[in-house]
Amino acid sequence: MHVNGKVALVTGAAQGIGRAFVQALLEEGAKVALVDRNLEAGEESKAALDEQFEAQRTLFIQCDVTDQEQLQGAFKKTIERFGRLDVVVNNAGVNNEKDWESTIQINLTSVIRGTYIGLEYMRKGNGGVIINISSLAGLMPAAHQPVYCATKHGIIGFTRSIAPIANCQRSVNDH
Ligand SMILES: NC(=O)c1ccc[n+]([C@@H]2O[C@H](COP(=O)([O-])OP(=O)(O)OC[C@H]3O[C@@H](n4cnc5c(N)ncnc54)[C@H](O)[C@@H]3O)[C@@H](O)[C@H]2O)c1
Repeated sequence: MHVNGKVALVTGAAQGIGRAFVQALLEEGAKVALVDRNLEAGEESKAALDEQFEAQRTLFIQCDVTDQEQLQGAFKKTIERFGRLDVVVNNAGVNNEKDWESTIQINLTSVIRGTYIGLEYMRKGNGGVIINISSLAGLMPAAHQPVYCATKHGIIGFTRSIAPIANCQRSVNDH
C-alpha cells in the first residue's frame, strides 16, 4: 500500500514500536494521529517529530484505549483534523500478568474495539487497512506470561476471522 497523502491512526504511539510505525509512515508521506495514554511521552514524541516533519502532519491525542468514549473520540478527532482515515494500527499493549484483567482489556478488547470502529469509518470512506499487533507469543506458548500469551493468540484468531468478513463487506459496498 502506498501511504503518501494517506491518514493513519496509531495507538500506543508515544514510544517503542508504535513510535517507530509513526516515523515510518511519516517518512512515506502519510499524516498520523498518535494515540496514547501517556501525555508526557506523547507530547515529547510530537515535539521531536515536529523537528523532522511539518507539524500539521501529526496530531497527538491523549487517550486510554480501554475507555470506549475516549477511543471513539480519538477516531473522530483524527477524521475532523485530517478529513479521512486510511490506516489503523492497533498497537497499544502491555505485559502485566499481575493486573491480568487490565492486560486483557488493553491487549485484546481494545484491539477488537479499535478494529470495529476503524471498519465503521472505512466502510463509509475509501476502504483502508487495519493492522493489529500480536507477537510470537500469539503463535506459541510463552513461559510465565499466560495472560499476555492468551491476548496475543486472541488477536491472531480475531484478525484472521474478521479479515474475510471485512473484505467481503468492502466489496459489497463497492457495488
Ligand atoms: N517489544 C517487543 O519485543 C514486542 C514483541 C512482540 C510484540 N510486541 C507488541 O508490540 C506492541 C508495542 O510494544 P512496545 O514494546 O513498543 O511497548 P512499549 O511499552 O514500549 O509502548 C507501548 C505504548 O502503549 C501505550 N499504552 C499502554 N497502554 C495503553 C492504553 N491503555 N491506552 C493507550 N496507550 C497505552 C504506552 O503508553 C506506550 O506508549 C505491544 O502490543 C506489544 O505487545 C512487542
